This record gives sequence, structure tokens and C-alpha cells, in this order.
Amino acid sequence: MSVVPEYLNRRRALKTLIGGVLGTFAASKLVHSNSKVASSTTAKLPPRPNNISPELLAKDESFWAQVALNYDKAQRIVNLEHGYWGKMSKQVQEVFVDKTKMVNTQLSVYARKHFSEDLKLSAGKIAQALGANYDEVVITRNATESIHNLMRQYNDFNANDTVLFADIDYPSFKDTMRWLAKTQSVEPVEVTLPAQTNQAEILKVYTKAFDENPNLKLMLLTHVSNQHGLILPVADIAKAAKARGIDVICDCAQSWGLLDFNITDLNVDWAGFNLHKWIGSPVGVGALYMKKGTLGKISPYPGETDPTNTLAHKRVHTATSNFASVLTIPAAIDFHQSIGAANKEARLRYLRNLWVEEARKLPNIEVLGGEDDASSTGMGAFRMREKVSLNDAKVLKKRLENEFNVFTVLRVGLASGCCIRVTPQIFISAEEINHLILALKSL
Ligand SMILES: Cc1ncc(COP(=O)(O)O)c(C=O)c1O
Repeated sequence: MSVVPEYLNRRRALKTLIGGVLGTFAASKLVHSNSKVASSTTAKLPPRPNNISPELLAKDESFWAQVALNYDKAQRIVNLEHGYWGKMSKQVQEVFVDKTKMVNTQLSVYARKHFSEDLKLSAGKIAQALGANYDEVVITRNATESIHNLMRQYNDFNANDTVLFADIDYPSFKDTMRWLAKTQSVEPVEVTLPAQTNQAEILKVYTKAFDENPNLKLMLLTHVSNQHGLILPVADIAKAAKARGIDVICDCAQSWGLLDFNITDLNVDWAGFNLHKWIGSPVGVGALYMKKGTLGKISPYPGETDPTNTLAHKRVHTATSNFASVLTIPAAIDFHQSIGAANKEARLRYLRNLWVEEARKLPNIEVLGGEDDASSTGMGAFRMREKVSLNDAKVLKKRLENEFNVFTVLRVGLASGCCIRVTPQIFISAEEINHLILALKSL
């Protein structure tokens, strides 16, 4: 799919509308804009054998060095904090700049006449990439907007109900669950997962909590934890929850693009996503997924109406936001898919395993999160053994940066204490991971 085919088709109509000198000026801008947009948003990659597995390709440093050439490289520091948001590739950035110029040139004429059609194209692209139906996906500004709307607009509480969340959930969402419990006069329950764990153990913790809390009505479930990259067995937990009539809000903010999956794999009715983390869109793009037939329990956005509960987009009122970010969505997804979701997942896991395997040999280091491949992603975390305070983590983060030139981030939120999160991106080399390994060995 080309990036803005609808807009290209509408150029003549817009020129007629504007007319005269202004029309000539506007049209020339559009020609300029769209000729650039026609440039490819696929990655420039070296040829490779068709049948190579993602796991084998993950170890091919020369292939990934070519991938890295598609990104602007920051100098001077080894940045291993890519869990915040993702770098756009050069190709995607070019589309974004072009779209920004176009919107800034055309302003309200574009926004009022044509944006709604382009918005539909972008939403359709997200739905297709997620394996969802078009009318199940709404574009938001970030996962927070998606998840907050789901929580705030959930309308099926009764007296004595309980809501559940876990220590590994996103801190702001835990706060919102606590707020929800207070405002809805329901009981909050927080479960704690072990600092190192696996799929079977995680499922056990949740099913035990279900058994102990028979009034459970709504739960937050995170696909990949922002703390240490732990993968939760979402489909199995959701199955157990559904069997007990528990509704699930799934936080996929960190998982889409870090892992290769379809929404139907997760067995959840509602989920929030980011495209500005691992899909590589400009900042300011998220998505809300609401499965067909599930809208009755999520009220429309305050003031909106949807008497038949069939319109997912009535659950969001984004208002004026970054048009160019939305217009760049198809290019970002095309670029992501041209590298391949499975290839990205495997490369990121490989980079994590490089440092985790070494760290596990060191008696003074504690690696956190997934114990096995099924429970871990490219994102990981560690701390000095027994050093779990905020101050301990601050000191460690500073040492990594000042003594070893390795940039990371500290995380607070795990019941077991604070830690340092390590998140490579696909343009990070094994050699750069080696900086971290050397640092770990010297700590
Ligand atoms: C697991 C998780 N959920 C939610 C969010 C919030 O994402 P955003 O700030 O883009 O809304 C993050 C951000 O890091 C996250 O890691």
C-alpha cells in the first residue's frame, strides 16, 4: 500500500478548491510533498538466503550492521535504554518530515477535508498488522490513553467486586487501578510475581488469586512488563479469567514489535498498544483494540453516545493531535514488516541472551524476569545481589554511565525492589553489548 494514495488522488480536487495563485502555490507544495513520499519505506538490506531461520539470522552481525545503517546513529554513549520509545528509521523519518511539511502548508484545508480518510487508512493498516478487524481498532496518542479510557469507562461493577493487578504492571496503571477501586468502591488486590519466574509459575500465581478472590470482576494484565521484559502467558491467564467471568484489560504497550504476535493469539477482548516503541512510528501513536461485541461494558467517552454499542471509536476523543504522526503509520508498519517481526524478536532476544548468560555466571549480580525463553524478551533487568533500594539502583545506574559509558534506566515497582533495565534495539551490535558485559564483570 502506498503511503497516502488517497491524498495523491485528491490533489486535483484540492487544487480546484483553492484556485488561482494560491492554488498554484499549494499544488506545487503538494507535488513536492508527494514525490518524496513515493520513496520506499522498506529497509535497505543485504540479500540473504530465503530459508534462514530468524534465530540463525539473529547471529549474523554483518546483516544487522546493514540494518543499523537505516537508522541515524548517536555517538559517544552505548544507549541500552530503548524501552522508552523507538527510533524511526531514516526512511520513516523522511516520510514524517514530509507529512509535517504538508500539514503545516495545507493546515485546516487538509485537516477538515481529507484527514478523516487518511486516518481510516492508518487505522486499517494497524488493524491488518495486528490481525484485527477494521472496526475493532481506534488510533490513540499512546497506550496510556488507550488503557486509561478502558479503565475509566468500564461500567460493570457491582458492590463487593474486586479488581486485580500485579507488581510487574506499569506503575501508572497500577495507580489508576487503585483510583478505580476507590472511586467505584470496589476492593483492589495486588499480586506479586517472583523476581525470576516462568510461564507455569506465573499462571499459578494468577489462578490462585482468582480462587482466593471470588468477587474478582476486572483485571489488568500486562503482556510484557516494563520492569524487566517478562512475558506473561496472557492467553492462558485470560482463558482462566474468562471461565470465571473476570474481564481483562491487556497492556500491550511494550510487546507489539518486541514480540511477533497477532491480537487473536492473546485471547483478550480489550488491549492498548503503542506504535512509538517497537513499531518505529513517530512519537504520539497508540492504538486501542476492542473486540467486536464487547463494547457494552466500556461506556462511550464522556459526552459521546453509542446506543447500539457498536462503535469502538466512540470510546476515544483524541481531539487535535499530531496529524503527521498518524499519516506516517503505514510507512512505519511497512518498514517494520520489511525487516520482519520474527527477525526483530529473535535479534533482540539474542542480544539479551549475550549479556544475561554472562551476568548469570557472576555471583554478585541478580538477573531478573524470565527464567526461560518463553518468558523473556530482548528487554531485561538486573541488580547487584541484595541491593534493592532506590539509592542502590541510582548508584549502579550512575556507575554504568560514568565509568563504563553505558546508558540504562532504573525501574521501581517490583515488589522485590529496584533494578536496572537493559533494552537494546535492533541497531545495537554485539560489540556494544560487550561494553555492558565488561562493565558487569568489573562491578
Ligand atoms: C508496559 C507499559 N505500559 C504502558 C506504558 C505507557 O506507554 P505510553 O507512555 O507510550 O503511553 C509503557 C511505557 O513505557 C509500558 O512499558
